[in-house]
Amino acid sequence: MKKRVFSGIQPTGRSHIGNYLGAMKHWANDQREFENFFCIVDLHALTVPQDPAELRAATREMAAMLIAVGLDPRYCHIFVQSHVAAHSQMAWLLNCFTPLGWLERMTQYKDKAQKQVSVMAGLLGYPVLMAGDILLYHTHYVPVGDDQKQHVELARDIAQSFNARFGDVFTVPEVVIPPVGARIMNLSEPTKKMSKSDDDLNSTILLLDTPDAIRRKLMRATTDSERSILFDENRPGIYNLLTLYELFTGEPRAAIESRFAGKGYGDLKKGLAEVVIEGLRPLQARYAELTRDPATLDTILRDSAERCAVIAEKTLTDVQHVIGLR
Ligand code: TYM
Repeated sequence: MKKRVFSGIQPTGRSHIGNYLGAMKHWANDQREFENFFCIVDLHALTVPQDPAELRAATREMAAMLIAVGLDPRYCHIFVQSHVAAHSQMAWLLNCFTPLGWLERMTQYKDKAQKQVSVMAGLLGYPVLMAGDILLYHTHYVPVGDDQKQHVELARDIAQSFNARFGDVFTVPEVVIPPVGARIMNLSEPTKKMSKSDDDLNSTILLLDTPDAIRRKLMRATTDSERSILFDENRPGIYNLLTLYELFTGEPRAAIESRFAGKGYGDLKKGLAEVVIEGLRPLQARYAELTRDPATLDTILRDSAERCAVIAEKTLTDVQHVIGLR
């Protein structure tokens, strides 16, 4: 039996190269080895204000994007979280077994809560919903970017404490973080991660950005006052640009450093813009094609949700039994 992989992504028209290099690309590369569950987490999106029509459109667009980056519905269950009712049900049950202090400690909660004028309870419960997502499928591996690591560790803690009390109900999942690209940085402020909620549009390269936008954003990227073009983690701006070059070309670091030896930051930015544009071109073409046929996307989502519901219901029923429901 193939081991199971589960990961999720929020529906938004603004997925960026951080999402791609930290997560989606690895999902696609490794899909043949595993049984995969890739979930468009519309319930998670509700933890911050959303426009209903935009949320609905973004959910279908994310399905197109996941297929455009290379996920193949023959190997992957690509589905929408709210289409499988067990996700909401499991979240409630796990809420009753998760200490409040564990949730209050989550760094993403603290960051996001600070930015909202009024914080909804769902924002605090966000990692519990996420734990339910993972645990419903007896997931072995959860490939994510660095910012989700703490949440996956919480899912492990919840699974372990539940199992300690009720027997081996859950598979305890492992987090998988890529060695390079787990934290793509903001182009304007390279000490912060690249994020879809950033107000500064120049800070983020979106997967659907035009070649001109990509060139413009990279040319403005913050660097430093030194000259050498070297992979030096103490120089976050240049390090981030070089990492992007490495990830988009697959060239070894030494080869990249010698390619740009004696050249200026402008040359690096120009060269990088071209490899990013070329790297995103096939994905953008597939995306455009897929969004022309929403009926096919809807069929894929519906079929996957039906298959996932069977698996998820079984786990939910097991949990309900051991805690005294039913
Ligand atoms: P989301 O939608 O914010 O991000 C999707 C994936 O992209 C990764 N990522 C990054 N990787 C590298 N550099 C960056 N700057 C960067 N920004 C984002 C994220 O780490 C993530 O892997 N809560 C999750 C979705 C979720 C989930 C799950 C994930 C819901 N349930 C269960 C795993 C398992 C989220 O909002 O991801």
